Amino acid sequence: MALPKLLISEEKIAEKVDSLARKLASELEGSSTILVGLLTGSVVFLSDLMRRLSHYGLLLEVDFMIISSYNDSGESSGSIDIVQDVRIDMTGRTALLVDDIVDTGRTLNEARRRLYDKGAAKVITCALLDKPARRKIDIKPDYVGFIIENKFVVGYGLDAGNRYRQLPYIATLEE
Ligand code: IMP
Ligand code: MG
Repeated sequence: MALPKLLISEEKIAEKVDSLARKLASELEGSSTILVGLLTGSVVFLSDLMRRLSHYGLLLEVDFMIISSYNDSGESSGSIDIVQDVRIDMTGRTALLVDDIVDTGRTLNEARRRLYDKGAAKVITCALLDKPARRKIDIKPDYVGFIIENKFVVGYGLDAGNRYRQLPYIATLEE
């Protein structure tokens, strides 16, 4: 069985989340922001990020979307499904769209388009991890925690077949 091998420690993640929150709080100050998380992978990052945003004085509303682009074997299928949409009215609002990782870029691109279609005035994108080598769609998140190599990673919300999400660090899976 594949064993998780540490790639990014809890401490490094916490420092990064803090610095992202500081920058985001200053950019978003004064705007009426809705934090939109993409389930399920973003939950751990999102819950840490929103508490750091609160620490830096940014108050926001929180909503979620479920977008599916991956089949059960973890391969991007190329087609995107909106399984669950946001419920808060986006009209004229600023959305802070948060995901765990940007891979081909399809998920973030589709979610961003959906939020603009629903009337958001501005969508700011933020991902903890970015794998630019795998990009299929020309999209660059506005805020990125770590740029990583083309390796499959788990932990801190990210899964392999629904396992490993609860690891407090980011790991690669090695045979
Ligand atoms: P994209 O649409 O190809 O950019 O895929 C983004 C989604 O795929 C993310 O929201 C993750 O849920 C998932 N994903 C991409 N790469 C990984 C990985 O290395 N580990 C776990 N999940 C991943
Ligand atoms: Mg995901």
